[in-house]
Amino acid sequence: MKSRALLNLLADGQIHSGESLAASLGVSRTAVWKQIKRAVDEGYSIETIRGRGYRLMTMVDLLDAEAIMARLSTQLRSTITSLKVHDELDSTNAEIIRQRAQNRSSETLICLADHQTAGRGRRGRQWQSPRGENLYLSFGLIFRGGFAMLDGLSLVLGLAVAQALEKQGVNDVGLKWPNDIFVRDSKLAGILVELQGELEEGVIHVVAGIGVNVHMSRAEGLEQAWTSLARSMPDRAWQRNQLAADVIASVLQASEQFAVTGFEGFRSRWQSRDIFNGQPLTTVDGMLSGTGCGVDYQGNYLIAVDGEIEKVRAGEISLRTRS
Ligand code: BTN
Repeated sequence: MKSRALLNLLADGQIHSGESLAASLGVSRTAVWKQIKRAVDEGYSIETIRGRGYRLMTMVDLLDAEAIMARLSTQLRSTITSLKVHDELDSTNAEIIRQRAQNRSSETLICLADHQTAGRGRRGRQWQSPRGENLYLSFGLIFRGGFAMLDGLSLVLGLAVAQALEKQGVNDVGLKWPNDIFVRDSKLAGILVELQGELEEGVIHVVAGIGVNVHMSRAEGLEQAWTSLARSMPDRAWQRNQLAADVIASVLQASEQFAVTGFEGFRSRWQSRDIFNGQPLTTVDGMLSGTGCGVDYQGNYLIAVDGEIEKVRAGEISLRTRS
């Protein structure tokens, strides 16, 4: 977004003269006019008031790496190798994979984008990623101990996001196995974990991408009921930088604990948010139907079928409620 500095100046919703904007930005008034035009083309609503200047008509919620870092504790900041905010990317997960290819040994990579042109969802689906509206955030994390110790990691990440949302005052945050975040009956956020190969023996690079719907009010072609923070709690002025910082803090803390305790240290907290528990469930292939009973220590979902407990492995099959 080339007009970011201009939008920062206009973000207070007051009228700013072309002259004062030009002085603050160190450019000519013609250049200011061009930037205003570009911002309008990008979808920002800016009113031109003859003889007085310009006024931003809608709230903007710009992402900013420094603002996010400033909201993290010094201790957490010291664990982050790099945190970048991009105006536009194909996918933040893809960007982390590219970054890791260049720098194999750096520990924690974080990247956000204001807009994704090819946002990836689970099961090959697209993730709707309109400009300026939501949070598109990916982590490059390193875990030692081989692939086996990663059982349940994606559930833990879902729990970490749920806890960050709760910290922001969101009530009734539930988890739909394996790692969708729901508010009441609608999906608010999703997680895509992509396991990369071993960097060296037993050292695994994990890409964890998180999408949280923040301001989104319209979306076309989504298969399931969805919500956004603005839809669920319209009276709040949601700030993506604060939300990003809370999600980052929660994910980094959870990852650190996960490296020590594995999923065992999180299982009961995960179960308390399980929206499938006690529900009549069926696998999408229709092969198994029963009642939801929570997860085992590997993060597999358990279903009671005719008095027997059957296991459904994450990544192999989807579950839905039977109506
Ligand atoms: C899902 O299908 O529920 C998972 C959605 C994950 C979307 C996020 S947005 C940030 C990151 N980059 C991507 O391309 N996908 C993930």
